[in-house]
Amino acid sequence: MDRLQKVIAQAGIASRRNAEKLIEDGKVKVNGTTVTELGTKVSPSDEIEVNGVPIEKEAPVYFLFYKPSAVISSVKDEKGRKVVTDYFPEIEQRLFPIGRLDYDTSGLLLLTNDGEFANLLMHPKYKVEKHYIVKTKGIPSKQDINQLALGVRLEDGKTAPAKVRLKSLEKKKQTAIVEITIHEGKNRQVRRMFDAIGFPVQKLKRERYGLLDLKGLNPGEFRPLTPHEIKQLRTLAVT
Ligand code: URA
Repeated sequence: MDRLQKVIAQAGIASRRNAEKLIEDGKVKVNGTTVTELGTKVSPSDEIEVNGVPIEKEAPVYFLFYKPSAVISSVKDEKGRKVVTDYFPEIEQRLFPIGRLDYDTSGLLLLTNDGEFANLLMHPKYKVEKHYIVKTKGIPSKQDINQLALGVRLEDGKTAPAKVRLKSLEKKKQTAIVEITIHEGKNRQVRRMFDAIGFPVQKLKRERYGLLDLKGLNPGEFRPLTPHEIKQLRTLAVT
């Protein structure tokens, strides 16, 4: 038995808080009867309707995907470009990505059908570390690297302190490889941070997300998360 608001959130219909509001507002029926009590427990055999529409309860699934570049972090694209869910043809559940990587960014992306889990990880207060490898046009100095680490001013605010390291450089080509770990999730954050110090990103890859990495996967491949990894991510989210 699970709490009604949890089941609604898990179906990806609303965040837990909005699910509570739907219940309190009388928008939710269980086996044909309107339920406004938040604590109500439901079992998998109960029929739940939100705004008159039955919700589909799928078994939750969680995948770690190595997104290639030139793929949209979405479930469909109006322009017909490749989307991340194209790589999961044999998975019946309705998957969606947790957050996004830009079209040109490769690397680690989680996909799930568990809306509540996704909301939890994407919540701004959730401090999961994301580790990126960046190839820059031009070679940033120590001061530039320091500036990134301390925080740079973007149009939507200053970035939080980050871990940044110059890994290697190619003098002739005037490019550098920089590692950066951030825990925020502003839109196109890494690219904008490097733009802000005058060293545009040529290539970007997310290598780690929390404790997860891409070990054993090639671009375009995925694996299920282990129950332990799912638990770890949940624990991180609430601490
Ligand atoms: N930062 C970016 O600029 N792009 C991404 O895809 C991820 C982080």
